[in-house]
Amino acid sequence: MGKILVTGGLGFIGSHTVVELQNEGFEVIIIDDLSNSSVDVLKGITSITGTTPDFEQFDLKEKSKVQAFFKKHQDIEGVIHFAASKAVGESVEKPLLYYENNINTLVYVLQELQKLENANFIFSSSCTVYGQADELPITENAPIKFAESPYGNTKQIGEEIIRDTCKVTQHLKSIALRYFNPIGAHHTTKIGELPIGVPQNLVPFITQTALGIREQLSVFGDDYPTPDGTCIRDYIHVVDLAKAHVVALQRLLQNKNDSNYETFNIGTGTGSSVLEVIKSFEKVSGQKLNYKIANRRAGDIISAYADTTKANSQLGWKTKLTLDDAMKSAWEWQLTIKGKDK
Ligand code: UD1
Repeated sequence: MGKILVTGGLGFIGSHTVVELQNEGFEVIIIDDLSNSSVDVLKGITSITGTTPDFEQFDLKEKSKVQAFFKKHQDIEGVIHFAASKAVGESVEKPLLYYENNINTLVYVLQELQKLENANFIFSSSCTVYGQADELPITENAPIKFAESPYGNTKQIGEEIIRDTCKVTQHLKSIALRYFNPIGAHHTTKIGELPIGVPQNLVPFITQTALGIREQLSVFGDDYPTPDGTCIRDYIHVVDLAKAHVVALQRLLQNKNDSNYETFNIGTGTGSSVLEVIKSFEKVSGQKLNYKIANRRAGDIISAYADTTKANSQLGWKTKLTLDDAMKSAWEWQLTIKGKDK
């Protein structure tokens, strides 16, 4: 089977996807600049699959290196492009850094793919493109809303860049996967999420609080118009999400795509409130979580969960793991890494 390039392959979702690709027999080559990951993740991947993926360390912003890489590796059959910056708050502070990191790199990779005879490309997009959708669950046809942050905007612009490029490049086939909220870790506890500093996302904050690294979780608002007053999200186990990349890639490799640019929602289809996530954590860990109700967080939407009909029917994919499975794996991973952040 062919060689697959995974950019950002040592990151949270990237590393789990590398494992699933190897499990399906693909040969994987990773490019990662280690800006938000660790080379130790390679060991974690190897201990799960028994195979060490090829790895090149460089920053995709270095255009000449991207060009040299593709010149050297003419046998790449598909690219899964995870490499990007993803901290929403930081993107507000440093918009140009985010546009450079997330947009320039995408353009450089696509420029090389345009030169090939045949190219298959999977892009990490986000449910953030929908903002607060008018109708729930959210289908792929829901309107794209004004981006709340430069990070969110890089996902919207990224999709547009790919769509426009595909229009004029018939031999380039692409799928943008719009992830809902990825959580959890590999059940072996060999790989997982390694947030730098204070986590902004709910689940790592919960597990770090339970371990005593953080004193208390703030639940951002309990006066939303939802059944228990807290925000609702579609939390998807990272292993289920990783598997979606493999089936999306296979769709392209087997020419089963309907057009050369497609988008899919990747979520569970079920919304969970912040308090439900906490309850699930307490159940699977046997720990009581120290939390308080705090003010709403600026920019939070009330509720978002996916209509997964398109992914279910066209990719033949659906989630197998539950919120409890995800919370259990997140907790076991936290216990494994203790206080280490990367
Ligand atoms: C955030 C990003 C989104 C990005 C995603 C990646 C924002 C506005 N959105 O999504 O663009 O794609 O991360 O995973 O930042 N919560 C608390 N206390 C906490 C942390 C979170 O109550 O300490 C609540 C939030 O209010 C929210 C839910 O938990 O209701 C999930 O928050 P989070 O994990 O940050 O994800 P999103 O905000 O959905």
